[in-house]
Amino acid sequence: MSGDNVEKQYDSMSFFYDVLYSGVDKRAWEEAFIDEFRDLLSSLPANAKVLDSSCGNGIQAAALKRNGIDVTATDISEEMINLTEKYAQSNNLSFPTKRLSWEQLPDNFDDEFDVVFCYGNSISHSINKEDMFKNIRSLYKVAKNGGKLVIDTRNWDKVINDNVRFVTSDVKEYLDKKYIFTYIWNLNGFDVPSSVEILFVEILNGKETKCIPSRLDFTPFKHDEFVNRLKACGLKILSDNYQPDNDYYSIIFEK
Ligand SMILES: C[S@@+](CC[C@H](N)C(=O)[O-])C[C@H]1O[C@@H](n2cnc3c(N)ncnc32)[C@H](O)[C@@H]1O
Repeated sequence: MSGDNVEKQYDSMSFFYDVLYSGVDKRAWEEAFIDEFRDLLSSLPANAKVLDSSCGNGIQAAALKRNGIDVTATDISEEMINLTEKYAQSNNLSFPTKRLSWEQLPDNFDDEFDVVFCYGNSISHSINKEDMFKNIRSLYKVAKNGGKLVIDTRNWDKVINDNVRFVTSDVKEYLDKKYIFTYIWNLNGFDVPSSVEILFVEILNGKETKCIPSRLDFTPFKHDEFVNRLKACGLKILSDNYQPDNDYYSIIFEK
């Protein structure tokens, strides 16, 4: 499976995902997500089915469910699915979840979803152009005819242009410990496998420290090239909010 590495990488960093998100107002993130897609979501019929195909720690799937939408959450990482279930339970929300890669979706669902989300810079975990095509085809397959596919991604044009190599966080408190994390970007250009190393420094009693390294692989792509590739695949673009100076953009397709 093409996502083997990424699956292991997310599985192994699920505890630190909780650390990264500690102190974050998750309800505000939920609301921002709903606001971002308000037009699309308000156009759906009452019995619409939505798939969050890379649910991570469950913020977007929970937001959809809280807004009365019949959502299913999937992700390649079992540990991310566990985080989604934990977040849903702590908010008294319930929706189906399943550990599935994008490639596995068509064997598990018919073309049944009114909207398929691939949100939060997930598609860049495709290892190359061919892998990305295969993943997008799988996402597209499980959408209904006339259904929508939403791909939200980091603006790699900006990331590569800015070429920031290191980012260090403020001190975060989680449970009985403190943490600092540093991102070290290893960017090799467009369409070349790259990675970000995330070094978590755990601080115990204010003095003992432990450094725990982790890594996420991705392959950056140029916006214009991405759009051309998708058009060449026959995908019909409904909207694209790319702006050179924005950190993220999303493209909505219709099947
Ligand atoms: C950057 S996180 C985004 C999570 C969430 N959507 C958000 O916005 O916070 C990327 C997610 O994509 C998932 N992922 C990566 N490759 C995948 C694949 N081939 N199939 C399904 N999920 C995948 C990862 O496990 C991870 O949960």
